[in-house]
Amino acid sequence: MKKIIFLLFCALFALSIGSCKRKKYTEVVEVPLPTAEEKMTIGTPEDAKAEPGAFELTKLNYSYDALAPSIDAMTMEIHYSKHYLTYTNNLNKALAGTEQENIPIEDIFKKLDMTNTDLRNNLGGYYNHTLYFDIIGTKAGGKPTDTLASAIDKDFGSFDNFKIQFEDAANKQFGSGWTWLVVDKSGKLQITSTPNQDNPLMPRAEIAGTPILAIDLWEHAYYLSYQYKRKKYIEAFFNIINWKKVGEKYEEAINK
Ligand SMILES: [Fe+2]
Repeated sequence: MKKIIFLLFCALFALSIGSCKRKKYTEVVEVPLPTAEEKMTIGTPEDAKAEPGAFELTKLNYSYDALAPSIDAMTMEIHYSKHYLTYTNNLNKALAGTEQENIPIEDIFKKLDMTNTDLRNNLGGYYNHTLYFDIIGTKAGGKPTDTLASAIDKDFGSFDNFKIQFEDAANKQFGSGWTWLVVDKSGKLQITSTPNQDNPLMPRAEIAGTPILAIDLWEHAYYLSYQYKRKKYIEAFFNIINWKKVGEKYEEAINK
């Protein structure tokens, strides 16, 4: 008798599982999916506006889709209007009502308390992305000209040597961070990398200097198009470097 009751219980249990599975399946297929139009909507850089504060977003002189295929439009939109905007708003909030609101950003870096993680991340996040979006663009790539070209030849032997060293440093950066071309205190060009949102203007930087070129190595900068192939993104980055702009930043740095 006990055996029959046990078998009946097993049969009822199996039926109830089957019933639950069928019900669950029905509910899943009834969930409406987003339309293709909703998935593909891309705004414009002008749509992104920082809240009032000491610092504003740098203006892009190119559209989100202008850098494709080196960087796709969706990556550019999310990077500029979400990541960069968030750093900017957070920095403005952190500085609101302090005396730092009215001094040049380079001076804020000089006195930065590196244990103040919130300010360190948002100050770096704002500065680093501003430089990055400023030195990429359309009708770009190729090689630098004029004074910067001569300086690269002098300090790295040739542009090709510089490119190999810069790409190597970027590929070796473990995890999120940045690789930089900086002008050090003696006026020499140097390549360096920093983790997270740190940069060569911060106290105790391994190689200190004024950044004139930066590549963002956070996954949000490339993952939609390149996934794990960061090397491909680093190679493509050289197609969108605005060397004229980098040259202007070099002139500013050596004439300080
Ligand atoms: Fe970024």
